[in-house]
Amino acid sequence: MSGIESLSEQALADIDAAPSAEALESLRVALLGKSGSITAQLKSLGALPADQRKTAGEAINRVRDAVGAALSARRAALEDAELDARLAGESIDVTLPGRDPGRGGIHPVSRTLQRMADIFGRLGYDLADGPEIEDDWHNFEALNFPPHHPARAMHDTFYFPPDGRGIARLLRTHTSGVQVRYMRDALAGGNGLPLRMIALGKVYRSDSDQTHSPMFHQCEGLLVDEHSTFADLKGTLAEFVRAFFERDFEMRFRPSYFPFVEPGAEVDIAWQRPDGSTRWLEVLGCGMVHPNVLRAVGIDPERYTGFAFGMGVERLAMLRYGVDDLRAFFDNDLRFLKQFA
Ligand code: DAH
Repeated sequence: MSGIESLSEQALADIDAAPSAEALESLRVALLGKSGSITAQLKSLGALPADQRKTAGEAINRVRDAVGAALSARRAALEDAELDARLAGESIDVTLPGRDPGRGGIHPVSRTLQRMADIFGRLGYDLADGPEIEDDWHNFEALNFPPHHPARAMHDTFYFPPDGRGIARLLRTHTSGVQVRYMRDALAGGNGLPLRMIALGKVYRSDSDQTHSPMFHQCEGLLVDEHSTFADLKGTLAEFVRAFFERDFEMRFRPSYFPFVEPGAEVDIAWQRPDGSTRWLEVLGCGMVHPNVLRAVGIDPERYTGFAFGMGVERLAMLRYGVDDLRAFFDNDLRFLKQFA
């Protein structure tokens, strides 16, 4: 019975100071466990004379209850502290900037197509469209390529097997066929003449190397009016080249042959090399619409004239962006594409 008060004081002080749940549990065992000091006190009661047992028992029970309550209180306090610490450690700083999901960019070929549509749009050209699976008439015949004409051989055409009705289908080799579709639709729709259109889209040829790909894009232009001349064509293309490259170039119109124009020309620009020297680079084909083409769609070539032009979109993109391998546009290497984002 001796020392129960000091035992109590010491126990309560130890409990208050217990630094962790484990330390607290050791204390509980040391005090209230099977061989704990308070348990020992309770066990020693039996040895006391009967008249002291009651008071002593009450005193020890009080201490045991007080120690039990102190243990619970300390345990709760330690758990709270641990929770606080965990919350503090896990807290999310909502003011931190988010992680960038990595923004994509517009593909350089798409950018170039948009740029062409913008430039010709400002000049009043309508945006026209045609199918990539084309028939022989629109792709060749109406454009004044008669059957077996040698100019067809220049196109390395992908043909489909003939269908039951004997209609020869192919992957269009150029966007010039859209000229034919557009003129027919314009006349049939009553919109009539004059007309101005550009067509942008994919074309296909069986050809593949550093500057050729089996699929590439073209931009086709057509104007038909009563008094359109080669001078109008030159002015239009000069304006386009200036707007596209954002600089002035010396240009050269070199006579060339395309069945659907007469006269026909290829256009070169004087390209400055980094060392200051210049070289002529071909950028497009063009010419005055051949009377046979106008006739094929029902336009009177005695009254109307027109000019047309066609260019390779990748080729112009290569020049504008300084890319020297066409295949880079189709490899989808992010290191290449990111430079245009
Ligand atoms: N269609 C021609 C080609 O793919 C390009 C072309 C040349 C288009 C002259 C034209 C033109 O409209 O007038 O090679």
